[in-house]
Amino acid sequence: MEKILEKIIHDNRDLINKGHVADYIPALSKVNPNYIGLSIADIDGNIYNVGDCNVKFTIQSISKIIALMLALIDNGEDFLFTKVGYEPTDEPFNTLYKLDFNKNKPANPMINSGAIVTTSLIKGSKEEKFSRLIELIRFITENPDINYNEEVYLSEKSTGHKNRAMAYLMKSKGLLNGDVEDILDTYFKQCSIEVTAADLAKIGLFVARRCPMNIDSKIGNERMASIITAIMTTCGMYDFSGQYAATVGIPSKSGVGGGILGLIPSKLGIGVFSPALDKFGNSIAGYGIMKDLSRELNLNIF
Ligand code: DON
Repeated sequence: MEKILEKIIHDNRDLINKGHVADYIPALSKVNPNYIGLSIADIDGNIYNVGDCNVKFTIQSISKIIALMLALIDNGEDFLFTKVGYEPTDEPFNTLYKLDFNKNKPANPMINSGAIVTTSLIKGSKEEKFSRLIELIRFITENPDINYNEEVYLSEKSTGHKNRAMAYLMKSKGLLNGDVEDILDTYFKQCSIEVTAADLAKIGLFVARRCPMNIDSKIGNERMASIITAIMTTCGMYDFSGQYAATVGIPSKSGVGGGILGLIPSKLGIGVFSPALDKFGNSIAGYGIMKDLSRELNLNIF
C-alpha cells in the first residue's frame, strides 16, 4: 500500500508549481508550498502515512464540518436548515452575491456565509463555542495536542473584511443571533486550528464510521454522518464540486491551508496536505492525488 501511495505523491508533486499558496490571509502566504503528504486510516485500524503527514497546517474550511456537527447536535436538522440551505452553488467560497437578493439564507454550510451561520448556531459563549469545537477535534483525532495558530487567527481577524461584510449583511436580515464580532471571532479561530494530514484522515474515518459518539444530541449519529457526507459531496469543493465528484468520486472537503479531507462511508478516511492552491481555493496537487487514489484503489462511490 505505501508503495502505491508514494508513487501517487511522486506523480503529482510537479503540480505544486502550477498553484499558489493562499495569500489573502497574510500569515498563510509564508507557508512552504513544497509540502506534500497523504494519510489513510481504514476501518480495520490500519494507518498509512506517506510524505509530510505530520506537518501541521491550519484546518481552514475543513473546520466547517466540525461546526456543522455541533450545530446539528445542538439544534437538530429541521431547525438548522431553516437558517442555511442544503444546496450547492456555482459561486466562489467567499461570495456574498445573492445574499442580498430575496433568498433569505445562505446556500449551504460549506461556503463562508453558510459556515458563519452554522458557527453562530453552536450553543454557548464565544469561548464555549470554540472550546467545544477544538475539544471535538481532539476527541475525534485522539490528539490532545491539537491547538490553534495565533498568528493565522489574528491575521485573518484583521483582514477578513469580506467575511465581516457578509456577517453584518446576514445580521441585518435576521439570520444571525448574537454579537457579530463574537461570531466572526469564533469562525476565524476555528479556521486557524492546526491539524496534520494524519489528523484529517482520522476525522474522515470518524464520519465513515458514522460518527460514533455518546453525547446528548438532537440528531442521531447515523443521520449526522449521512448529512455531512452528502453535503461534502455536493458542496465540499465549492464551485468545483461537480467536476470533482465526476472525476474523483470521493466525498471531500478542502481548506485554503492546503488540506483535503476525504472519506468512503464504512471504509476509510483520507487526509491530504499540499498548500499550493488552484483558482477554486482547493489544493492543486491534492486534487491530483485524490484523482489517482480514487483510480488506483477503486474508491469512486459513483
Ligand atoms: O474564511 C476564510 O476565507 C477562510 N478562513 C477559510 C476559507 C477556506 O478554507 C476556503 N477553502 N478552500
